Amino acid sequence: MIIALNNKSNLDKKDMDKYIEDIKTIKTSHQLIVCPSFINIPLLNISNICLGAQNISSTDNGAYTGEISGEQLKSYGVDYCIIGHSERREYEKESLEDIKQKIKKALENDIIPILCIGETLNQRENNFVYKVLEEELLSATEDLKEEEKAKIIIAYEPIWSIGTGIIPTNKEIEDVFQFIKQNMPKSKVLYGGSANEQNIETLKRIPIIDGYLLGGLSLKIEKLKLFIEKLD
Ligand code: PGA
Repeated sequence: MIIALNNKSNLDKKDMDKYIEDIKTIKTSHQLIVCPSFINIPLLNISNICLGAQNISSTDNGAYTGEISGEQLKSYGVDYCIIGHSERREYEKESLEDIKQKIKKALENDIIPILCIGETLNQRENNFVYKVLEEELLSATEDLKEEEKAKIIIAYEPIWSIGTGIIPTNKEIEDVFQFIKQNMPKSKVLYGGSANEQNIETLKRIPIIDGYLLGGLSLKIEKLKLFIEKLD
């Protein structure tokens, strides 16, 4: 399975040095992808652990102050990139068009996008889940060739579940995964949103899940180890 770790905007230099030592002690046959803050990317060079970014510029190298391009990321060993996380859609006002461009830039630079999609609680309560997911999926991938689409990893992250400790029922997750796989039959699909060392016992009963995108748990190595143990 894929276990992608989204550190978000956490870990200063000292914390990161310790984090790296701790993460090296994880023994697993699952594919671990660590997505640190940009500034910590050059510090992470651990065999058997893949490197991911949390964002990518929608442009190439050039006069775009503050942006980090796919070419730059690749040159630092980044092979994956989270794109369209709900926090970026909401706080940074990333549009469907921005996300589409970022997916293209990632693929152009041989970086595998981890495309985050998910509905708000309001959208779920008003039966808009599939409409929202379909729009996010179709818009992000509409200009891509089939073989490019196949490379994309999808992370289903219900927004109401991120960082809240509340997770959907297994049936709700399974229904959404079936829908995603109908649209993106060759893509791996991850679940994200408050997945932890306690609820993994329940989540792992869903056979259709290809892996997890972990936020809070990515920072707690001991609990992360328990999560991985229970997943096996
Ligand atoms: P969480 O975050 O695991 O802390 O809910 C997941 C994410 O935002 O990717």
